[in-house]
Amino acid sequence: MPRALVTRKLPSSVISKLAAACDVDLYVGAAAISRDELLQRANGVDAIVCLLTDTIDAAVLDAAGPQLKVVANVAVGYNNIDVSACRARGIAVTNTPDVLTNACADFTWALILAVTRRLGEGERVVRAGKWRGWALDFMLGMELRNKQLGLVGLGRIGRAVADKAPAFGMTVAYTARQHSDLPGATAMPLDRLLSTSDIVSLHVPMTVDTRHLIDQKALSRMKRTAYLINTSRGPVVDEAALVWALKERLIAGAALDVYEKEPEIHPGLLSLENVLLIPHLASATTETRTAMADLAVTNAIAVLNGQPPVTPVP
Ligand code: DGY
Repeated sequence: MPRALVTRKLPSSVISKLAAACDVDLYVGAAAISRDELLQRANGVDAIVCLLTDTIDAAVLDAAGPQLKVVANVAVGYNNIDVSACRARGIAVTNTPDVLTNACADFTWALILAVTRRLGEGERVVRAGKWRGWALDFMLGMELRNKQLGLVGLGRIGRAVADKAPAFGMTVAYTARQHSDLPGATAMPLDRLLSTSDIVSLHVPMTVDTRHLIDQKALSRMKRTAYLINTSRGPVVDEAALVWALKERLIAGAALDVYEKEPEIHPGLLSLENVLLIPHLASATTETRTAMADLAVTNAIAVLNGQPPVTPVP
């Protein structure tokens, strides 16, 4: 029987499916597996089913040994995996696209609505017993109707976010690496998108090119009334620059689901009212997380059986 290391608890139905195909070593700790334990438990496995919190680099691949055939990530983003090191060793790398698109798009809209209508701030006032009752000018937010949604990146999730824009009366602008057509939406360079959008929502993968894409210069280009939404990867935004922009009120607010050094949060963000801070929950529905785990395991089993994976990373 081949052997698989699963670095975190997955739904039991998914583990049973994997266990029918190989011997499973399941790490059951509540937090991410430690580096030492990962290196030790990877030894001799044929498959690693991992999460975005696990760094799968050359050292892990070496610790596993030459029989390792597949690294199956339970996430669509795979910046935690050294894909070139895997390719150099003939190891397949897979991710979980499509199954989380809808949950992530819905969640992006939840953040857009929550930050523009100040839900986090409002709840904090209520819980602190500081609400003095209804007032005409109390905690006013921004309406979405007739505003521009600027999508940085137009992959599956960006498109799914765009699909819902007409329901809120928003126009859509986007930047895309390749020529892309999105009916009714306007393609534009990043600088123009930043300076004309009322909501800037990030949907790019984490690569060397997108690290700190949103830096001090980019934030300075945004409208003072605009909001930044990040559900992509934390390092796409320079957090120190964002703290500066929020403090100086260069932008109206931000909603973040991801951070540069998760689960650490930049201390400057914690004391600001005009930022909504969410603990990386975009795909966190029972349906979606089960589907993600199931797809990762399906990919691992396919490779162990000598078949092509369903969703290899591009
Ligand atoms: C992903 O799959 O990359 C998401 O960030 C998980 O929530």
